[in-house]
Amino acid sequence: MIDSGDGQKLEQFGPYRFVRPEAQALWAPRLEKSAWQEADGHFITSGQDSENGGNWRLNNSLPENWQMQFEDIHFFAMPTSFRHLGFFPEQSVHWQWCAQKIKEFIKIHNRAPRILNLFAYSGIASLHAANAGAEITHIDASKKAVQLAFDNRALSKLEDAPIRFITEDALQFVQRELRRGKSYDGIILDPPKYGRGPKGEIWQLHENLPSLLSNCQQLMTNSPLFLVATIYAVRLSIISVHAAIANSFSNMGGELTSGEIALIEDDTVSSKPPRAIGQALYARWCGLAT
Ligand SMILES: C[S@@+](CC[C@H](N)C(=O)[O-])C[C@H]1O[C@@H](n2cnc3c(N)ncnc32)[C@H](O)[C@@H]1O
Repeated sequence: MIDSGDGQKLEQFGPYRFVRPEAQALWAPRLEKSAWQEADGHFITSGQDSENGGNWRLNNSLPENWQMQFEDIHFFAMPTSFRHLGFFPEQSVHWQWCAQKIKEFIKIHNRAPRILNLFAYSGIASLHAANAGAEITHIDASKKAVQLAFDNRALSKLEDAPIRFITEDALQFVQRELRRGKSYDGIILDPPKYGRGPKGEIWQLHENLPSLLSNCQQLMTNSPLFLVATIYAVRLSIISVHAAIANSFSNMGGELTSGEIALIEDDTVSSKPPRAIGQALYARWCGLAT
């Protein structure tokens, strides 16, 4: 994030800059107006629906997509109709935390941990975890999202990594795995507020999260590594998210931490103390003995 203020944020994605609405930027921007005007794309909200509706106004020279890199993982960025750019950079704290836990697990157990990534979208968490040595099962309801994850796998040259890509409803998949007696050492989930499975199955976070978490707990192996849950754009407090995970995982020992993940301004741009904008709530449970 380059700058923020007046209900917007200015961000750089690879070589391009974008202005997106950000209701939490309750302060004045620090850069000149021209820095904002010169951005390669602006997301303009529509009058009636400032939370969801709107369209991109993009410079003609902007390509349809372009490549970016985080550590060893290469992936495509592109402006999407959901306001985002095809991935969630604030989740990089989770990618790094998971990689560290995966490496610790391999040292202790001398085998690759099996990780389930639910609502896995464009797959950066899957690819980063596979690159750290895990076996991945990547679940998303959308064929288009799974195709994007495939393309990102090819860009990252991870075609031979042990990743299963499955287009399926997350809750249905988890319930089927339980019936089949399957288990996982780690689970990552980034559920939307509302979504649909490929056969029209309805996902509603407030209604379905408790049973999904309880199923996830039952799916854990007896050497459980972690559960990482991220929740965006929902009227929930972090106290409730923490308690929801504790409800399923507190009897398993381990350590549960929770908080917000945030975007932070690049302080080299304005040379002032960077401001942060919370993007999502998270809870991370880790079963590794410390
Ligand atoms: C990564 S989550 C969205 C998180 C994002 N941070 C947000 O709230 O905007 C979105 C992904 O969940 C997938 N999805 C939605 N409903 C689903 C369901 N019932 N089962 C599996 N995946 C689903 C979508 O296809 C999409 O790729």
